[in-house]
Amino acid sequence: MLTKLLKTKLPWIQAPMYHYSGPELAIACSKAGILGSLSVQIPERMKKSLEVIHQAKLDSYACNLFLIPPHLSENQPEIHPLVKEKLFSFRRELGLDLEPKHASDSYRQEFDEQCQLIEQYQVPIVIFTFGLPDKGLIAEWKRKGIVLIASATSVAEAVEAEEHGMDAVIVQGFEAGGHRTSSRLPQYGTVGLITLVELAKKQVSIPIIAAGGLVSGQQIRSVMALGAQGVSIGTLFLTASECNTPHSHRKLLHDASPETETVLTRLFTGRPARMIPNRFYHEMKEVVDRIPGGEASIPWNFYARDIFGKAARLERPDLFINWGGQAAGGLHGRSAMPAADIIGQLLQEYHR
Ligand SMILES: Cc1cc2nc3c(=O)[nH]c(=O)nc-3n(C[C@H](O)[C@H](O)[C@H](O)COP(=O)(O)O)c2cc1C
Repeated sequence: MLTKLLKTKLPWIQAPMYHYSGPELAIACSKAGILGSLSVQIPERMKKSLEVIHQAKLDSYACNLFLIPPHLSENQPEIHPLVKEKLFSFRRELGLDLEPKHASDSYRQEFDEQCQLIEQYQVPIVIFTFGLPDKGLIAEWKRKGIVLIASATSVAEAVEAEEHGMDAVIVQGFEAGGHRTSSRLPQYGTVGLITLVELAKKQVSIPIIAAGGLVSGQQIRSVMALGAQGVSIGTLFLTASECNTPHSHRKLLHDASPETETVLTRLFTGRPARMIPNRFYHEMKEVVDRIPGGEASIPWNFYARDIFGKAARLERPDLFINWGGQAAGGLHGRSAMPAADIIGQLLQEYHR
């Protein structure tokens, strides 16, 4: 039973969402009977969030950790001059200095500090994204009773997760919002959720948690009937009042329609991610389409990171990242509501 592993009433997870799922959302979801999860945070902020969560005395919650291989964040290819010029033009428009202030990545050090915090606060569950931790850490944390959940975008990754000793695996269908959690670039899973669950359940015996495009109780019931033992839901929780969703992003989801398109692109962060396209996407795509290697040549970079941060503060959806899964259009007309009400509604639909 997945609920036993997650220590929750329902086998559902509020997906970790970078910048979006802070302690308020995690607490609200955990109190409402599903697994709330805290997104990856810099150690200083993570410590504060864990203090808040600790005070809430939850039965269970999860923290997310990224395993971005160092070569993908440190030894980046040069940014093509045309791309750089485009980034400069956005920076000028937002009143940013052309050169970013912080251009070094402390990824490795941050990971070690995040791990120390996991142990210090006795975090009960960890969800790994962009790969698997080394076997030494897995063995140590299992000894300490920490439940370990991997993320996979293909059957091969799900099998690897089981072989590495993970307790459960989230399989992320092609529909999902945000980054593909695959560690295998340039490939990344492109299989839709229904097929992925069907294929993965024949190959792995650890619990499979389905993610991607789930915004209704009926959908949850369907993927569980197929063999998933639980679900992980992201985009829907962007509409929760406790989620750190910028106003303009909420409005985009509210104004979406069933015809709203999402795109899977590397243009924003160098890694494939799904979102609602905006001006940044269209203008950058036009530049990148003229470059050999196209989107695959876009490195993760500090120039873009500053642009998204400032655009979010200014509520500028044209230059921000409007993350969203394929089901974003189904959120049409939704206003912010407490996570507990969203979960209550899902439950009603589930039992209907
Ligand atoms: C805004 C947003 C941010 C996300 N950030 C993360 C993240 O930091 N870590 C992670 O493992 N997955 C992240 N994801 C992916 C989710 O974990 C999950 O796979 C996805 O939301 C499921 O599909 P759905 O959005 O259609 O529900 C993010 C998704 C969204 C929508």
